[in-house]
Amino acid sequence: MRKKLVVGNWKMHGNRSANAALLAGLKEAGPWNADVAVCVPFPYIAETALALTSQAIAFGAQDCSAQEQGAFTGEVSSAMLADLGCRYVIVGHSERRAYHHESDQLVADKAKAALAHGVTPIVCVGETLVEREAGQTELVVKRQLAAVIHTLTHCIGEIVLAYEPVWAIGTGLTASPEQAQAVHAVLRKQLQAATQKADAMRILYGGSVKPDNAAQLFACADIDGGLIGGAALKTADFSVICRAAS
Ligand code: 13P
Repeated sequence: MRKKLVVGNWKMHGNRSANAALLAGLKEAGPWNADVAVCVPFPYIAETALALTSQAIAFGAQDCSAQEQGAFTGEVSSAMLADLGCRYVIVGHSERRAYHHESDQLVADKAKAALAHGVTPIVCVGETLVEREAGQTELVVKRQLAAVIHTLTHCIGEIVLAYEPVWAIGTGLTASPEQAQAVHAVLRKQLQAATQKADAMRILYGGSVKPDNAAQLFACADIDGGLIGGAALKTADFSVICRAAS
């Protein structure tokens, strides 16, 4: 039985006082019988680390460089994230693929860089509305995952995968449990062909997960938790979602 994982993706939200209140609220609300983490903006990682010392809540970042180190102005390496104690880093979020033109290969290289430093990459895949309506959902997510499998080879079992349909992110439109489960099953099958660890791997669903739909989504056979955007910014909502995963 896979233990569920709920990850809050704060995106570009927050400030020092709001973050402190949110983290204090989460510490109060936990612990849960699920793994829980928050992925915060780079400038707040160190303070988050201090706030979560010896707590059951893990933390991480929302991106990392594919490069090891060097003259890459503005980039943050996975070694730096490891140095700060990050357990996770999100790579290949659709917002980065869309706004920063990240290719499938770059996302795979970022996942590889993270693993090299012991930081677990949460690799996001997902189709746009146009792709879904064109019947290309499977094709797109399998292509995105294939690049990661090809690049990580025998280490693929170490990642967390997240299925985030782009049309469901921040829109209030959630994939139905049936729609999400169908894609998760496709992804699990693709992982099974690549690694014997596939049945132990966690595949998260992300896209308008809210307190009132989390339990139904998490009840699906291949949905092992959630990657939560907007609802991760509210202590009460995020803790209800964590409880739904418990
Ligand atoms: P929302 O939960 O706000 O739809 O965001 C999902 C997401 O992009 C998490 O990475």
